[in-house]
Amino acid sequence: MFRLFLSVTLAATALATTFQKCSDKEPPPENLRVSDCTEEPCNFVRGKELIAEVDFVPDHNITELKPNVQAIALGLPVEYPVPQRNACKSILEKTCPLPQNVQATYVLKIPILSIYPPVRLTVKFALIDSGTNQVVTCFKISGQVV
Ligand SMILES: *[C@@H]1O[C@H](CO)[C@@H](O)[C@H](O)[C@H]1NC(C)=O
Repeated sequence: MFRLFLSVTLAATALATTFQKCSDKEPPPENLRVSDCTEEPCNFVRGKELIAEVDFVPDHNITELKPNVQAIALGLPVEYPVPQRNACKSILEKTCPLPQNVQATYVLKIPILSIYPPVRLTVKFALIDSGTNQVVTCFKISGQVV
């Protein structure tokens, strides 16, 4: 219920957020909504929770899915351990198997801890089919911890 309310809120108030493609081989999302950010660079406010909704269309049937989040500052990628490793459990209003060519929405929630240094960074996000290791969708956004 909370999750449903949240998504309605984000969809209703947040416009799409700008993002960059990862590479030509990795499909970008259809749409991205990051809380309190419509245009990069996004402010990642310490003490708040970053919520992102990623609309993507799988190009094949998906039975297993995992998230991969990297924070890249000064060219150095650091993997952020998403608490929910099973991305199938973070899909809005459905779960796996996800059929190909049908849009699904992944909801990412990351606490911005107050111990994080105030740096400029790029966040790279990917959903990976853990069965085949294929990148299902990938994007990058630039921002700063404030
Ligand atoms: C994907 O799933 C659909 C529905 O379950 C099925 O009809 C189709 O054959 C599957 N495609 C592949 C390539 O397995």
